[in-house]
Amino acid sequence: MQELTEGQVLKIMESYGNDPQQLIAVLLDIQAASGKNFVEQKWSILASKVLGVPLSKIYDILTFYAMFSTIPRGEHVIEICQSTPCHFIQAEQVVGWFEEVLGVKVGATTDDGRFTLFRTSCVGACDVGPVAKIGDDVFGELTLDKVKTLVQSYRDGQPNRREALTCQS
Ligand code: FES
Repeated sequence: MQELTEGQVLKIMESYGNDPQQLIAVLLDIQAASGKNFVEQKWSILASKVLGVPLSKIYDILTFYAMFSTIPRGEHVIEICQSTPCHFIQAEQVVGWFEEVLGVKVGATTDDGRFTLFRTSCVGACDVGPVAKIGDDVFGELTLDKVKTLVQSYRDGQPNRREALTCQS
């Protein structure tokens, strides 16, 4: 994917009438158009100038909401729960399964830019641990086979959300 240009970012803001009330929607669109699932610092600075919003407010939003990132990420962010209840039921093994299936270590993004792997804290589904979150979807009772099937479904562009739980976080 090509680098996002200043012209494209200006167009995104224009599409919302350069309205500061639409800041979150603007930032979401900038992130989606980045090709790397993040909001680059220069676009935050530009948004601050064009929308007349303090840069500190933009960073507050980018750091408060888990859906935003200020560092490049894969198209799909996978987060493995590491809190105590999941930890006692093989969370560390689940980390190993995802690392094996994706071919990257925790904190890294796959070469094709499709997946980034992180650890996270409790997502409110402790009764079905071990648990991982892919985007906004939470998957429980993970096994190696389930991890393989899930990742493949996202690779194929047809995420298997049938088994996803309602996200509590
Ligand atoms: Fe893992 Fe709560 S401890 S979901």
